[in-house]
Amino acid sequence: MRSLIDIQELSTDEIDRLIDTANDIIDNPQRYSEKCKGKKLATLFFEPSTRTRLSFEAAMYDLGGHVIGFSEAQSSSSAKGESVADTVRTVGYYADIIAMRHPKEGAPMVAAMNSRIPIINAGDGGHNHPTQTLTDLLTIKREKKRFDSLTIGFCGDLKFGRTVHSLIGAMSRYENIKVVLISPDELKLPEYIKQTILEPKGIEYTETTSLEEAIPTLDILYMTRVQRERFFNEQDYIRLKDSYILTPEKLVTAKKNLSIMHPLPRVNEISVAVDKDERACYFKQVENGKFIRMALIMMLLGVEQ
Ligand code: CP
Repeated sequence: MRSLIDIQELSTDEIDRLIDTANDIIDNPQRYSEKCKGKKLATLFFEPSTRTRLSFEAAMYDLGGHVIGFSEAQSSSSAKGESVADTVRTVGYYADIIAMRHPKEGAPMVAAMNSRIPIINAGDGGHNHPTQTLTDLLTIKREKKRFDSLTIGFCGDLKFGRTVHSLIGAMSRYENIKVVLISPDELKLPEYIKQTILEPKGIEYTETTSLEEAIPTLDILYMTRVQRERFFNEQDYIRLKDSYILTPEKLVTAKKNLSIMHPLPRVNEISVAVDKDERACYFKQVENGKFIRMALIMMLLGVEQ
């Protein structure tokens, strides 16, 4: 029985296989429509979500399975003080696999240690979001046809942005990756990620506060929202929330084949005028999210492909 808590638990071969399966699902959806017949996914979301929860649910339905679960902590017995461990022990009698989002870093790992069925981390606090990373990797592969020799700019809230932390971890395994970290000083990438991932793997990285200076060098621009829910002080959030706003004017100096990504939801950080730019990939990410989650559910349930 295997869970997925951190993207680093997957080997490069496994990531390649998941991407191949997702691409095959995109081309041949009917072939997969009964792969999880009789199986149940439980979505335990202690924190808000649109894309992750609904794409997991759509993924299980498109595999012929069923879905149970809750979308807020207040509608579960955690509101009465039940622990994560007891919650997943209970759900293990009703479902075959769990996708869990929780505001506390490490909660899905605690769940996995106490569960008889696989746990998928659907985002834990400011820590990790491995299925968003699989979504991002599928999108990068479909857009760029490769993972090697890419310069990726991460822009915005690099301190709390769990999708950034996971994607840096995943991309660091490929050759000739360069990373440009674009953020206000207060929202820089945590030192532990530089010390445990970027520096040991010899990834070339630079830090800047200027999106305009970075843009011409990039193959991928990964924009992020400033994570209001992680701030202790509303005044700090208000001061930092509009640090970067991507507009068509700022893209004039960008490469013609730049890929503009964002895990969404966005607030102000990408102007809606950019949506018309053919380099905008963020709604392709939304679409790809369902297919890669279908592939992952099958893998963790040991379903023949
Ligand atoms: N990208 C992402 O995790 O979106 P949701 O918060 O809507 O699930």
